[in-house]
Amino acid sequence: MKRALLGFVIAAGAFAQPGGGPPLRSLKQVVVPQVPGVERYVRDRAALVVLGKALFWDMQAGSDGRTACASCHFHAGADHRAKNQISDPLNGFPVNLALEAAMFPLRKLADSTNRNSTVLADTGMRVGSAGVYRREFKGIVPGEAAEAGVELYDAQAFTLNGLNTRRVTGRNTPSVINSVYYQRGFWDGRALQQFTQTVRILRDGRLENEEVRLTNAQLANQAVGPILDHVEMSYAGRSWQMLARKMFHLAPLGLQQVAADDSVLGPFARIDGRGLVDEVSYLRLIQKAFAPELWESGERDEYSQAENNFGFFWALALQAYQATLISDDSPFDRFADGDRGALTALQQEGLRFFQQQGRCTTCHSGAEFSNAVLGNNNRNAFQRTGVRPQEEDAGAGNGSFKSIGLRNVELTGPYFHNGGQATLEQLMDFYARGGDFANNSLRPFAMTSAQRAAVVEFLKSLTDERVRYSRAPFDHPELCVPIGHQSVPGNDPRFPRAAAEQWAGLPATGAFGERAPLQTFDELLHGIGGDGSRSNTMTRACTIP
Ligand code: HEC
Ligand code: HEC
Repeated sequence: MKRALLGFVIAAGAFAQPGGGPPLRSLKQVVVPQVPGVERYVRDRAALVVLGKALFWDMQAGSDGRTACASCHFHAGADHRAKNQISDPLNGFPVNLALEAAMFPLRKLADSTNRNSTVLADTGMRVGSAGVYRREFKGIVPGEAAEAGVELYDAQAFTLNGLNTRRVTGRNTPSVINSVYYQRGFWDGRALQQFTQTVRILRDGRLENEEVRLTNAQLANQAVGPILDHVEMSYAGRSWQMLARKMFHLAPLGLQQVAADDSVLGPFARIDGRGLVDEVSYLRLIQKAFAPELWESGERDEYSQAENNFGFFWALALQAYQATLISDDSPFDRFADGDRGALTALQQEGLRFFQQQGRCTTCHSGAEFSNAVLGNNNRNAFQRTGVRPQEEDAGAGNGSFKSIGLRNVELTGPYFHNGGQATLEQLMDFYARGGDFANNSLRPFAMTSAQRAAVVEFLKSLTDERVRYSRAPFDHPELCVPIGHQSVPGNDPRFPRAAAEQWAGLPATGAFGERAPLQTFDELLHGIGGDGSRSNTMTRACTIP
C-alpha cells in the first residue's frame, strides 16, 4: 500500500535531504526485516514470541534471581531510574548518586548558545543502568532463581562505605522499540547483522555440530551479550547450560503477575497467582517453537541437547519478541499517511525546522529517523557529534556513535550515549551550538526560543500512544527494579558485603495498558506525576516476595 506521500514530503523534495538519506515517512510503509532461512530451525513463530516475551521480562534470568532484560528496558523500551545509575570507566564517580534536575546538562556553559563560553561544570560521568553485584558464579540451586555466588571486592569502586553496590553500565540504555530495523546494534554498532552459532542438531539419527549463519540478525547477536555479562545480568563465569538448567526448573515468570489480557502471555497467565500455568514450562515452549532436531535427542552427556542449544534458543526468541516492538502509529505516521490534521501547525513548523535549518535529517532520516537502519545506504550511520571528547569513549571509532532513531524520545530521557541531557530543550541547545567538543560533523545554527519550542513539539509527535500508555504490543508483566542503596548491609545472609537496597514495583499491564501516561525523565527528576497522573513514577512498592 504505497499511498501518495502528501504535503510535507512534496515540500521536502524542494530541499532534498541534505545527507542524501531517504525522505521522512510513515513507519507503516516499511516492511519489518525478516531473518532468511530461519524456518529451518523455527517451526512455530507465535510460540517463539511467547518464549521471547517471557524470557525478556523474567527476573529469574539474572544470576541474583531478580534481574531481567526488562530491568533496564521497561519504560518505552528504555530505563527510567534516577538513583545508582552513574558510572565512569575512566575516573572516580559518586556511587549511589540521586540524580537531580539541576545537574543537567552534565556539561554546563555560561552561555548555552556558545560552546566556547565559560564552562561552569563538566563531568565525564555517564548515566547508565544498574545491573548486578560483582560476584563469581558458583552454581545453581535447582528450583531457586538466585544462584550461588561468592562476593568479590569491586575494584571498579561500586562500593558504598565498604559495601558492594549494583554495578552500572558505562553507557546510557537505548530503547529496544524499533531496534529490529537497525543494521547494527548498540551505540557503537558492535552487534553485527551476521549471527553465527554452533548448534547440536540431529541429522539422520546422529547428533552433529552444525554452524548456523543467519543474516538480519543483529538482535540475536545483541541478545547473547547481557545475559552472561557480569555488569548487566550475571555472576562471572556462568554458562548457557547452567542458565538453561536453572530456567528449566522454574515456572516462567514465576515471581511476577501476568495480566489475563496480556497480548502475548494472557492465554497462559495463572489467574490466581504468579507466572504462567504449569503446562507452560520453558522446555515446553522451546519444544513448541523449535524443530525437534534441536532438542529431541535422548543423548545426554553432562548436559541435555536442549541445555546445550539454549544460547541459540535465547537469541532467536529475544530477536522474535523484540521484532514485535514496533511503534508505527504516532501522529507523525498518520500525517505522513495523509491525515493532515494529525500534526498541529506548531509541529509542522518544527518539522520544517528539523529538515531545513536544523539539518537533522542529515543523520536522522527515513521512517525510523535513523541513518543506521537496514536498507539505507548507511551514509552518516555513525557520526561524531561532539557529545564527549573521543578519548573518553571512542564509540564506533574516533568518537562516532550511532545516528539513533528518534521515535518516542519524549519518554526516553536522558539523551545521548552518556545520558548527558535531561530534556529535549537542552538537546536542541546542544545541536544549535554545534555540539560540545570540536572536531565533529555538526554545523551550528541560529534558533529562537519559539523555533526551539516548535522542534520539541515536533519530536513529541513521534510518540505512539500505545507506547505512552503501555498498551499492546508494549504491555508487560509485573516487574520490580532496584532504585538505589542505603549504606548499611542488606539482609541476605549469603551476601554480607552487599549494601541494602530499595525497590520500585511496576504493575502488570494488560493489552489495554495503563490509565495514566508514562512519566518523562524530567518529570521523574521533578517528582511530577506521583499523584497518579503519570505511570512508572518509581514510587510504588514492590510486591514481589
Ligand atoms: C543492566 C542494564 C541492562 C540489561 C539488564 C540489559 N540491557 Fe540492553 N542495553 C543496556 C545498555 C547500557 C545498552 C547500550 C550499550 C551500548 O551500546 O554499548 C543496551 C543496548 C541494548 C540494545 C541495542 C539497542 C540499539 O540501539 O542498538 C538492545 C536491542 C538491548 N539492549 C536488548 C537487551 C536484551 C534482549 C537484554 C536481555 C538479554 C538486555 N538488553 C539487558 C542495558 C541493559
Ligand atoms: C551529523 C549527524 C547528526 C545530525 C546532523 C543530528 N544528529 Fe542527532 N544524533 C546523532 C548521533 C550520532 C547521535 C548519538 C550521539 C551520542 O550519543 O554520542 C544522535 C542522537 C540524537 C538524539 C538522542 C536520542 C537518544 O535516545 O538518546 C536526539 C533526540 C537527536 N539526536 C535529535 C537530533 C535533532 C533534533 C537534530 C537536528 C537539530 C539532530 N539530532 C541532528 C547524529 C546526528
